[in-house]
Amino acid sequence: MPFEHPDPQVQAFGRRVEAEFSDEASGHDWWHVWRVWRLARRIAAAEGAEVRTCELAALGHDVEDHKLGRPAGTLAAWLAEAGVDEATAARVVEIAQRVSFKGAGVPDAMPTLEGRVVQDADRLDAIGAIGVARAFAYGGARGRLLYDPHEAPERHASFEAYRKTNSSSLMHFYEKLFLLKDRMHTPTARALAAERHAFMEAYVQRFLDEWEGYA
Ligand code: ADP
Ligand code: NI
Repeated sequence: MPFEHPDPQVQAFGRRVEAEFSDEASGHDWWHVWRVWRLARRIAAAEGAEVRTCELAALGHDVEDHKLGRPAGTLAAWLAEAGVDEATAARVVEIAQRVSFKGAGVPDAMPTLEGRVVQDADRLDAIGAIGVARAFAYGGARGRLLYDPHEAPERHASFEAYRKTNSSSLMHFYEKLFLLKDRMHTPTARALAAERHAFMEAYVQRFLDEWEGYA
């Protein structure tokens, strides 16, 4: 069933994204977008952010992701085609650009509450049970091992040296996923992240116990 929304412009935009993303296998598939939309809507309402802007930005946040190679202007064009007014579209584009920008070590400046809501939603979808599934799916798509004891971080001279290895999927938890709970902007997302983080920690502990044959 195609994306449904009581607001016809949000629905039209969502359906455009759905159509374009449904054969995306890069970890940026439509269902990732859909989950981020659900979380953004919920967090926006709880935080008093402008819900419609957050919904549109969540639906559009990966449209111009550099890994997907769509040209600049694609997001604005899709919003215009869905009938979204220019002022709202401009805010949505601004948020999407900041959410997808991932300069190494660059502090993430997110000046609007709506931007912080969408970034929190995107980060939440990388952790918890969904995060576990996405990490192993990503690694599997690249032919990586689930885990490789020989590349445990303590075996490398430095964290930088370790990062240069072709990490197993489990290492992604230490590189990124365990760090995300402290990067949430909003209290609502922080509470959700705490639960998801605890689940992942228990999961990885259990994984390593089973790996060694202890459990
Ligand atoms: P996003 O664009 O949503 O911030 P990425 O494009 O970095 O995320 O990754 C998409 C998904 O794949 C995320 O769930 C992320 O945790 C996972 N992922 C990214 N890099 C790796 C990796 N090296 N190993 C395992 N999973 C990864
Ligand atoms: Ni995303």
